[in-house]
Amino acid sequence: MPTYSYEECLQTAYRVNWRIGDVMGTQQFDRTRRWLPSALSGVDRISALTAEEKTKLSHVEMGAYAHLFGYVEEFIAPRMLSLAQDFAIDNRAAFDALVNFAAEEVKHMNLFREVRGRVDEAIGFPLALIGNEKAVARVVLEKNTGAMLLLTSAIEWFTQLHYLSTFKDDEGLDPFTKHIFRHHWLEEAQHAKMDHLETLRAFDTMTPTEKDTAIDDLIGLVAAVDGLLGQQAALDIQNLERYLGRALSEAQRLDVHRGVLRAKRYAFIESGVTHPNFMALFEAVTTPAQQGKVQDAFKGLLSEAT
Ligand SMILES: [Fe+2]
Ligand SMILES: [Fe+2]
Repeated sequence: MPTYSYEECLQTAYRVNWRIGDVMGTQQFDRTRRWLPSALSGVDRISALTAEEKTKLSHVEMGAYAHLFGYVEEFIAPRMLSLAQDFAIDNRAAFDALVNFAAEEVKHMNLFREVRGRVDEAIGFPLALIGNEKAVARVVLEKNTGAMLLLTSAIEWFTQLHYLSTFKDDEGLDPFTKHIFRHHWLEEAQHAKMDHLETLRAFDTMTPTEKDTAIDDLIGLVAAVDGLLGQQAALDIQNLERYLGRALSEAQRLDVHRGVLRAKRYAFIESGVTHPNFMALFEAVTTPAQQGKVQDAFKGLLSEAT
């Protein structure tokens, strides 16, 4: 398993650091192109829409994709700040790196707010997006810290996979979208490494009973994420109908919902929990019995099940 250091994470974070204004500039989205790579979008899984309609679907899906990052950053930022306090004064490298991590997530939330504004301008109406982020953040922060950190680790490793394997070399993709998620990827690389360090630290001091609680909480958190993805998939259809200026038939609606939800489950759950770096961490902090329990719980959410 790789080893990471807080000091190195902080130095890299300072080197790649960017400002929201520099990322957003005055650039606009190109409505003739797709805004989300096909692996993260339902478009290639749907037969009900024309090519032009699929392009528009990718626009509303990208607005939701950006929103969901801001949504999870609502709980990641405060948790990193509270973890940083464990190191105050005695371990400045860890304290500084984690405080900076929290500050970057605050910046990302503001970045994604601006992205959503720019998306709304480009498509001509405000996208319907899942709400309640503050209430959800409160619930997540009350869960076992190890569970929350494993969920966060899966999320931050998939930001790496998404950019490198889907955004980076997609020539047909809108360049502004690629530019935004490239910058997010640059800073998230350090977050994923610090999640790893913090997850090991959290599990290191847990009793076997607390570890069982962590596993149960993780299963509950992933189920909650899946519930949110289902809600957003329904809103994506509503957004698409408004964008197209027509109602879809019931059969088309079902087809689009199935494709969009499948893509969101891959993007927000499967690509994280099957990421090799997440799996190595997960195996390091769990027993084979706990691993089996999680695998059983996730079975219905992974590709081969649907
Ligand atoms: Fe972020
Ligand atoms: Fe992050």
